[in-house]
Amino acid sequence: MASPLLISSSSSSANEKDKINYPDFNSDYWNQIREHYELKSDYINLESGYYNIIPKPTLFKHIEHIKRINIEGSYYMRNNRLNDKKSITNRLAEFVGCKSNNIAITRNTTESLDLIIGGFPWDNGDEAVFAKQDYGAMKVMFEQVHKRHGVINKVVSVPNHPDSDEEIVSLYESQITSKTRLIMVCHMINITGQILPIKKICDMAHKYDVEVMVDGAHCIGHFDFNIEDLNCDYYGSSLHKWLATPLGAGLLYVDSKHTSKIWPLLADHNNDLNNIDRLNHIGTHPVHIDLAINDALDYIEWMGIKRKEERLRYIQNYWTDKLRDHPNVNINTPKDKTRSCAIANIGLDNMSSKDLAEKLNTKGHVIQLRRLSVGNFEEKDTILIDLSKEIIHSSTIFNKILPIETVLDDIPALVLNKTEARQIKQGQKLELNSLESIDNFLKRNPNYNKFEKIYAIENNDPIALIKIYEGIVKPARIINL
Ligand SMILES: Cc1ncc(COP(=O)(O)O)c(C=O)c1O
Repeated sequence: MASPLLISSSSSSANEKDKINYPDFNSDYWNQIREHYELKSDYINLESGYYNIIPKPTLFKHIEHIKRINIEGSYYMRNNRLNDKKSITNRLAEFVGCKSNNIAITRNTTESLDLIIGGFPWDNGDEAVFAKQDYGAMKVMFEQVHKRHGVINKVVSVPNHPDSDEEIVSLYESQITSKTRLIMVCHMINITGQILPIKKICDMAHKYDVEVMVDGAHCIGHFDFNIEDLNCDYYGSSLHKWLATPLGAGLLYVDSKHTSKIWPLLADHNNDLNNIDRLNHIGTHPVHIDLAINDALDYIEWMGIKRKEERLRYIQNYWTDKLRDHPNVNINTPKDKTRSCAIANIGLDNMSSKDLAEKLNTKGHVIQLRRLSVGNFEEKDTILIDLSKEIIHSSTIFNKILPIETVLDDIPALVLNKTEARQIKQGQKLELNSLESIDNFLKRNPNYNKFEKIYAIENNDPIALIKIYEGIVKPARIINL
């Protein structure tokens, strides 16, 4: 039986669909697919969500494209590039179930979605809704539009085991006000693999004239769906994930009625505001990656997206079903098989997630850090400004307000005399060795240079946060009490 590895590699044009001898899928095809992957023998890679290793047939074609572009050079760029990209876009649109004038090939999900978040015509006070479980890159982009345009971000938390689609829909609905403009929602949450009821969320949001941007980083090539059926306004995905294109290929879908209002990230010559290409000016880039999208589509069509989806879901349920009722195990992926596919998340009661990650030979990365205490002051003791205004004239204030030293307790203190303190308060620099209390300070704080900041006191009162660098004391922040 012919394998796609034996296909002739001549690719004169991306328009020309390669002739593949499709194997009989009633045969032992999964072993054949296994043969298409060259894998490391010293570990099993269970993480395909970051980047799918590409199968040999696609890799082989990709290398051919690199060689071809390298021979044809600017001749290719001037004569074939645009036509090739157009025909690949058309084919991709067919695969993802939408019209080709609604999609652009980008470099990844981050580019696609951040382009929408950054280019949306925000007004000060507009509101956006997204979830705690959303991807960090998009959340920081929303933080940026908050700082830049005064957009108010509202954050929901999606339950790991929803009772119904309606529970999720009403979670997002509960945050909508007359100011809400955009909801961002994951089609599949990358942490738990949960698939969300996108169409129902979009239908609900549209009733309030709110637009929905879907993070589909993990969905194209993972399971079978049509973007148009979702009724969403924007959709972004990374093709180098489950579609297994080479690294650096993504997709942006924009409903035609919104194209004209989005500001591109990089300005384009195109004056037609309704042309999606206007949003996709990226300059000269590795075009062989675009060409290989065609080959990745060949491969997935050869395999069959429905068949792939079923296989991935089967494998995930194979291990999660066995572990779900184990007393020490928490499967954080919904039990309902329609709400997940290949990705699942597990926690153990008797092992920290850090230890579990180490045992599985995976390295985590910190996406958010939260400080829970400063000196002797703990986060639980914080009060909101509004409450402080309310209690300012009552005796409750004495229980709530703590001396400023509470937060300075674990950093060194440098005692200044009156003259030195005045100089620091005026923003002047001092020589550490010239200070009156220098001997005492060095005796008490031999490691002072390990601290980024130190505080200065005069007569037991903190007067400034200071920095000491190469023997010079500089004020960092004056404390006016
Ligand atoms: C849910 C989700 N969104 C967006 C991204 C960003 O993908 P990329 O780095 O390919 O832009 C990821 C990456 O893993 C993701 O998991």
